[in-house]
Amino acid sequence: MIVFNSSSEMTDWAKGQARLGRKIALVPTMGFFHRGHLELMQTAGRHADEVVVSLFVNPIQFGVNEDLDSYPRDFQRDADLAQQEGVSVLFAPDVDDMYPEGFQTTVSVSSLSRHLCGADRPGHFNGVTTVVSKLFNIVRPDYAVFGQKDFQQLAVIQRMVKDLNMGVEIVAHPIVREKDGLAMSSRNTYLKPEQRKTALSLSRAIAMAQSLFNDGEGQTTVLKREVEKEILSFPGTSIDYVEFVNQNTLEPMSIADNRTLLVMAVTIDNHIRLIDNGQLALISC
Ligand code: PAJ
Repeated sequence: MIVFNSSSEMTDWAKGQARLGRKIALVPTMGFFHRGHLELMQTAGRHADEVVVSLFVNPIQFGVNEDLDSYPRDFQRDADLAQQEGVSVLFAPDVDDMYPEGFQTTVSVSSLSRHLCGADRPGHFNGVTTVVSKLFNIVRPDYAVFGQKDFQQLAVIQRMVKDLNMGVEIVAHPIVREKDGLAMSSRNTYLKPEQRKTALSLSRAIAMAQSLFNDGEGQTTVLKREVEKEILSFPGTSIDYVEFVNQNTLEPMSIADNRTLLVMAVTIDNHIRLIDNGQLALISC
């Protein structure tokens, strides 16, 4: 596995691969890999000849009171794991390389970025779309793999690629969970044992909504009330949002159908914010 820290070296390599007719799949990450990240790398490997993983804790997608400084980092562990997955290139640029002095251009997807996580984290998605655009320009991938755990991020990126004719095929990977249902996240390392139990409130609430829906309850006001009750029955939880939305537009739905997505963000003990989502129908159609 090659490690590049400079974007120009990364692009030179990518151009060389294109000349050889070899396809590239990119997996953008902020590191501190868990099984979710590793599965994205495996999916990338099934789509292309070469897998590039980017590892960059992107400062411009963090708000002023967020966890940029404490975000978990372990470069050597990540590099070893990526190598074991057969990754060709680990691209780990410096902040100065990505955002040199004078940097002032941003990419923004207007309305899709505004509600749900965008309402709680103003500017967050502009930071994501800007860095992902830069990564696409630097790595020139044919495919890029993103997780459905960050459902809004995925929707925003799909919109951006379409609107700006970026020519990268976006591949979505399902949510990877712990055995007990907790969606994997680098931020789960913040959870103390009691909070780890509380974190199950999200997946439990999703399972409950799925079961109510499959028993015939379609009114999202009713489903929302039950979901909120379930989450708040766990100590230390506060709800940032619980919504039932159309998977593509993220517009709220009043009557649920088979493709309705239940999306939620919950804060534990006032400082650990977790997100999760699930389709209401257990079988997709
Ligand atoms: P990060 O949180 O490191 O996630 C990198 C990728 O892994 C994202 O596509 C995310 O959706 C996916 N992922 C994380 N946990 C997952 C899980 N449990 N199951 C499936 N996929 C999962 O998302 C980011 O980084 C950044 O915003 C980034 C896109 C890299 C831009 O900076």
